[in-house]
Amino acid sequence: MKLSDKKATLSFSDGSPSIDLPVYQGTVGPDVIDIRKLYGQTGMFTYDPGFLSTAACASGITYIDGDKGELLYRGYPIEQLAVKCDFLDICYLILNGELPNTKEKTDFDGLVVHHMMVHEQMQFFLRGFRRDAHPMAVLTGLVGAMSAFYHDSTDITNPQHRHISAIRLISKMPTLVAMAYKYSQGQPFIYPRNDLSYTGNFLRMMFATPCEEYKVNPVVERALDRIFILHADHEQNASTSTVRLCGSSGTNPFAAIAAGVGCLWGPAHGGANEACLQMLEEIQASGGLAKVGEFMEKVKDKNSGVRLMGFGHRVYKNYDPRAKLMQETCKEVLQSLGLENDPLFKLAMELERIALEDPYFVERKLYPNVDFYSGIVQRAIGIPTSLFTAIFALARTVGWIAQWGEMLSDPEYKIGRPRQLFTGAVPRDVADISKR
Ligand code: ACO
Repeated sequence: MKLSDKKATLSFSDGSPSIDLPVYQGTVGPDVIDIRKLYGQTGMFTYDPGFLSTAACASGITYIDGDKGELLYRGYPIEQLAVKCDFLDICYLILNGELPNTKEKTDFDGLVVHHMMVHEQMQFFLRGFRRDAHPMAVLTGLVGAMSAFYHDSTDITNPQHRHISAIRLISKMPTLVAMAYKYSQGQPFIYPRNDLSYTGNFLRMMFATPCEEYKVNPVVERALDRIFILHADHEQNASTSTVRLCGSSGTNPFAAIAAGVGCLWGPAHGGANEACLQMLEEIQASGGLAKVGEFMEKVKDKNSGVRLMGFGHRVYKNYDPRAKLMQETCKEVLQSLGLENDPLFKLAMELERIALEDPYFVERKLYPNVDFYSGIVQRAIGIPTSLFTAIFALARTVGWIAQWGEMLSDPEYKIGRPRQLFTGAVPRDVADISKR
């Protein structure tokens, strides 16, 4: 980051002396005011719940312009990456800053796929869970447990160790998600194969059984790979900030990523595609297309507490560029699988049509987000709704671990410790229990 010639001057209405604050420029995007010395100079904190105006770090990985609807990984537009690259190209790019050449790609793909198998003991750990446990609960546990299996990863000051743990996490996440699924079905676990792609391997570990040969459907493989690409990173969102904050204490990467998995689970974040599908299923059960108008009225009524899931985004106040790409994939998959007349897809299209025309949504700039379509694609592929967020976690792992690594190699890195505006009781004395 570059120090700007410009300074921000903060003045006070009570005559306290004003102070100058440095301003930094990024390569693209808004400048930031450096408030690190604010407390020292004024005895005051800033107040910004929800981080609406706070840059918590400097990062060179992902850039989003929410007003333009632009998403760049390492400078490359998502629209180009999604059609010209596969997910492992994106992982290489996010981790290393550049796209791989042919040799680098062969080596990287081989490295990741060869690390997909997990420690055999992991399945015994998994067996401690109830079969009906939510996959995100299971995944939080399994990822956290990885720290007990890979002790050497704990030297976080060693860049090579950090790289090995990044590869382990990216490689083993599909295996863990598939194992969580197989466990819920009571089916045997399927081991990865080194002759399949990363995404092909995931599909096979999910859907193959030892009873017959499983052939990966290339349309489905490409669609899932695109879901992974579109979810790979999204700068300082809630789960990534959680990984950074958790990792800032110096904890091991598996514990930090497990914290990210826990955060992603929430319905306002990664749980939205699951919540979106549940919403479609509920509308369908209550009467389908005929009930869409009634449902939309509820969404617009603030007292109902109902939100149109899969719509709106904290940062994108224009169309989510990932939603456009996902919409294309959605059509392709439904066509290829002969599901164009799927009632839930028709319902989704009707909700989208109404929302894009209705002043309530237009005025608030509420557009479909990526989760709106990714849920439909995953359902068409045969992925159960409860597993959607786990797939998101699988894809986001590369972003989380790259952001964690970036934080640790930043010379300005410190443990994260937000401050507060205290609004509780003023100091008082503890009364004897008989007098309370
Ligand atoms: N349905 C109906 N109204 C909405 C919706 C929605 N999905 N989203 C926002 N609004 C309304 C709010 O009620 C508010 O109206 P008001 O100004 O009259 O009070 C206005 O739009 C602004 O909403 P905020 O909640 O302030 O927007 P914020 O940026 O904080 O929230 C969020 C963004 C959480 C994503 C929100 O839009 C939402 O809950 N969407 C549904 C859940 C969802 O799809 N999440 C996925 C996020 S993307 C991801 O994680 C990959």
